[in-house]
Amino acid sequence: MIDILSDGRLFHLKTRHTSYVFFANPVGRLEHIYYGKRIEDVASILCRHGRQYPASFCPMRQDESSDQGPDILPQEYSGFNSGDMRIAAVAATGPDGACWTDPRFVSHRLTDTKRPLNGLPHAFGNAKGENLEITCRDAFTGLEIILLYSVFEECDTLTRSAIITNLSPAPIQLNRVMSGQLDVMGKQELEMVDFQGSWCRERTAERVPLRHGLQATGSTRGATGHVNTAATVLCEKTTTETQGEAFGFVLEYSGNHYEGIELTQFDMVRVQLGIHPDFFSWKLEPGASFETPEMAMTYSAEGFGLMSRNLHDFMRGHLIRSPWNGKRRPILINNWEATFFDFNTQKILDIARVAATIGIEMLVLDDGWFGHRDDDRTSLGDWFEFRSKIGDMKELADSIHALGMKFGLWFEPEMISEDSELYRAHPDWVLCVPNRPRCYGRTQLILDFSRPEVVQHLYDVMAGLIARAGIDYIKWDMNRNMSDIFSSPLPADQQGEVPHRYILGVYALHERLIQTFPNLLIEGCSGGGGRFDAGMLYYLPQIWCSDNTNAIDRLRIQAGTSMIYPVASMGAHISTQHTTARFIPFETRGNVAMAGTFGYELDLTKLTEEEKATAIRLNAAYHRYHDVISEGDYYRLTDAFRDNPVEAWCCTSKDQSQAVLTVVRRTHFGNVLNTPIFPVLGLDPKRHYRLVNDAVPSEKQQVFPGDLLANMGLWCQELGHNDCDSIVYFFEAID
Ligand code: GLA
Repeated sequence: MIDILSDGRLFHLKTRHTSYVFFANPVGRLEHIYYGKRIEDVASILCRHGRQYPASFCPMRQDESSDQGPDILPQEYSGFNSGDMRIAAVAATGPDGACWTDPRFVSHRLTDTKRPLNGLPHAFGNAKGENLEITCRDAFTGLEIILLYSVFEECDTLTRSAIITNLSPAPIQLNRVMSGQLDVMGKQELEMVDFQGSWCRERTAERVPLRHGLQATGSTRGATGHVNTAATVLCEKTTTETQGEAFGFVLEYSGNHYEGIELTQFDMVRVQLGIHPDFFSWKLEPGASFETPEMAMTYSAEGFGLMSRNLHDFMRGHLIRSPWNGKRRPILINNWEATFFDFNTQKILDIARVAATIGIEMLVLDDGWFGHRDDDRTSLGDWFEFRSKIGDMKELADSIHALGMKFGLWFEPEMISEDSELYRAHPDWVLCVPNRPRCYGRTQLILDFSRPEVVQHLYDVMAGLIARAGIDYIKWDMNRNMSDIFSSPLPADQQGEVPHRYILGVYALHERLIQTFPNLLIEGCSGGGGRFDAGMLYYLPQIWCSDNTNAIDRLRIQAGTSMIYPVASMGAHISTQHTTARFIPFETRGNVAMAGTFGYELDLTKLTEEEKATAIRLNAAYHRYHDVISEGDYYRLTDAFRDNPVEAWCCTSKDQSQAVLTVVRRTHFGNVLNTPIFPVLGLDPKRHYRLVNDAVPSEKQQVFPGDLLANMGLWCQELGHNDCDSIVYFFEAID
């Protein structure tokens, strides 16, 4: 709900448990006032809200006596070089060469429906009237800035973005445009959580105290990257999974991103998310507009757990558009870790035949099926069959379909090998700086997706094959990051636009494919989880979480990922774990993979009879638990910031009728107590729950009250004592 008070100058955005308040002050600066636990009536807020006296070395405008000074004012969207010395939300160079911006409030508008962003991911489906547009102007530079706010009441989430329009008669250069900003006041000793990593170590949650100055994370890799995800969290020193304040911020964007947190000299905190200002500039012609990516933010007064559940609900309910959202995905077998490039039709069909007998529902043919690709040095861009290896794609797809399975295919649409027909035909289609040496990543170059003809070509080729062969799923990979960024058709003063234009091209291709094939299941990927972001989730419902498929390593990766992204979006497979050598029981590999979109990535023809029996059991369990795990509420029961000897999580259905508790023993130290106790959270304290045990008749199964399971917890006596043992408990309400 949005209340507008004080003659249209005080704005109160309310969700179920939160309030967000800001004010257009007498000189037209948008002052941020409050974000936190819900307040019913904020009308009195203005008579005492904190006016600060001007501080030394904080510039003031002399013509604005009532202004408390831009450098100490909490602001909704700050300008540049006009008095606020902190990180700016918008910085532009005007026609006169002045790099100076100063947004001032002009008007507001409430709208019934949320304004879509052109060619960019944006949340949808909030209630009527929950959208606020605040128009500001910088009359000197000639910029109009519309700040968009939308309220997603039931998941305590707000979205923000900005639209910048050039009202002047000459071009303006945008140098920095954030999606949103939050100035937090009155909090002591805040900490930040970010999600560090690398290939095979994605999204490791890291928590550090804020220090004075700017601490920024982000990516200038042209993509989200393995090193940081496009999200950040602010929390109190004492925040835990279940207690304390946590502010979660997520950018719905897949390109260069920036999460800046500045702790100021006066202990205020400014948070900004947006396109990374390095390698960004945008020439705004007169009358033209620039739309920023959207960011989402949530506030939890009950720790990281509620913050994550808010974001999961927001993404599942308002961001992921695929018709597969909310539905069980087919259990898949991907041949990559089974064969790498060494396969042919016979090998693929052998794997598929075993898959069909153990309840696997889709075969995904990974890298190596196209051009003449037998290693990673060739053929990217040639998206036609490698006939001597796999024959005709339709025939292969028909054979898989005849086994009762779906058929999926790997693509890396944005890439090109120099050894390819596409490169020989269009050497100018790559991103590269003329007369400069090029960098290669995995021996490949990047197609210039900022060019519409490149996007059109990829659409024609991919759509043609998907339609001709009857492809049910595609894995969209991206195996290197950007360097040598330059697009030959663009003039010199627009080269700073290339990274963002590239991402708009990627989104355009996704959009066209999903419009043409609405039921196509697409899985995102970038060398594992290098492009795991909320922007991608707007186009596809699941993303390969990491090339590290070692179930014990995955505990940390999946816990970090779950801080922000829903379990239903995380690709997780049982494999032979080529990236590490540790032995992990098949069952544990399955129990960990089940907390994601489940599948296999190993040579099924080499499974023992015992492993096959386990796979059949795991597949049945996945069917049984799927709705609870993927669509329910997710509770981390162990500290996501460290590797715990025993890890646990539980998922509870929204109607509180079922819960799944998973416990994994990472390592067993000598002389420690063996039986961990974990609570089962989210259950109805007044109902009773049977611990389902198929080995005994239901009347003999143990029954516990919901409050006992939540407050005392379950003694996990069945958990084995060896490293990497695991157990899954399933509870069903009986009343
Ligand atoms: C990336 C992906 C893998 C696999 C390979 C194929 O690394 O993350 O799953 O598809 O590419 O080259």
